[in-house]
Amino acid sequence: MSLPSPWRADFPAFAAFTASRQTYLDTAATAQKPQAVLDALLDHYAGGAANVHRAQHAPGERATLAFEGAREKVAQWLNADNPNEIVFTRGSTEGLNLLAYGLEHLFNAGDEIVISALEHHANLLPWQQLALRRDLKLVILPLDGAGDIDLQQAAQLIGPRTRLLAVSQLSNVLGRWQPLQPLLALARAQGALSVVDGAQGVVHGRHDVTALGCDFYVFSGHKLYAPDGIGVLYGRARAMAKLRHWQFGGEMVQHADYQSARFRPAPLGFEAGTPAIAAAIGLGAALDYLGEQDEYALAAHEAALHQRLLTGLRRFDGLRLLGEPHTALASFVIDGVHNADLSHLLGEQGIAVRAGQHCAMPLLHGLGLPGAIRVSLGLYSDGDDLERFFAALHHALDLLR
Ligand code: ALA
Repeated sequence: MSLPSPWRADFPAFAAFTASRQTYLDTAATAQKPQAVLDALLDHYAGGAANVHRAQHAPGERATLAFEGAREKVAQWLNADNPNEIVFTRGSTEGLNLLAYGLEHLFNAGDEIVISALEHHANLLPWQQLALRRDLKLVILPLDGAGDIDLQQAAQLIGPRTRLLAVSQLSNVLGRWQPLQPLLALARAQGALSVVDGAQGVVHGRHDVTALGCDFYVFSGHKLYAPDGIGVLYGRARAMAKLRHWQFGGEMVQHADYQSARFRPAPLGFEAGTPAIAAAIGLGAALDYLGEQDEYALAAHEAALHQRLLTGLRRFDGLRLLGEPHTALASFVIDGVHNADLSHLLGEQGIAVRAGQHCAMPLLHGLGLPGAIRVSLGLYSDGDDLERFFAALHHALDLLR
């Protein structure tokens, strides 16, 4: 069975990959872009680029309408209450840094910030550095045997000193959904703010931030088939109102004189300078594209790829999966083989996977591993991609053993 992807033809990159004999299995690092997104970028520039929110002229109005239209599409996609709850950022990392600076004034020495042992550096380092700046305690929730945040221990560790909980929705290494609802309930019960890193989770189906009940949710466009350089910080209005401004410049100001200034509220107050206009419009186009697809067919394709990936990997002697992933993403190590050697030999055969510590160094160290190989698939991946990968893995292991 070849397991074709009905969406592959929508992604021009695969023509280039076929010509250069590349097999792209690194979608969790960044996804390919559909023609609809490329068309939106071309339309913005070829139709006459202009800045947003600054001009009375027609090109400026056109750009502003398209940019603000993208904000509305994001708000609808996430089921936010209104578009003012959507701040455009450069990506998840910038969103989390914005929060760590914008909320800093709320913390006093001895307060606690709670994260988990599986966080990507983007959801560790901004909080770690905030804790160092303000003499706070950074509490790390341990994982259970399955690789999920341990809820029993979380119930002990999230307490009256907890001022903020920041956790990933889906691990970028283990591919497992985290128990967000109970964790957010624990934070709410302590009156703590909650931040969800949706960088990996947002890619799989639709997520309703209102139903989830988090205060903040961040994601990056480039993993969601949109351009890079654009991301989203969602903040529920009440929580957003707590944020202090963090970057200063054009368009975020209500009034300025030489000695003082007053700033706009969200979203524009947090988008100093010229934003990534084309990329935001491209993100809107990516959401339109995804929204037009049959979501059940997408989920079924991902489930079939997931199954085939795991079944194929389990056939390799000495291969150890890092946990049992929920999505079409698998990280693994092979006895006696260094991940860097393996990824080099896979790369030489045109197989693009990610190797190393996946920007989650403490997690990998906790697992006692110098690194791992990660395969991650997208809606355009197909059975032939996997067959080529398995053949290349066999060949690489023959050479290494
Ligand atoms: N955060 C991205 C990854 O996990 C780059 O690969």
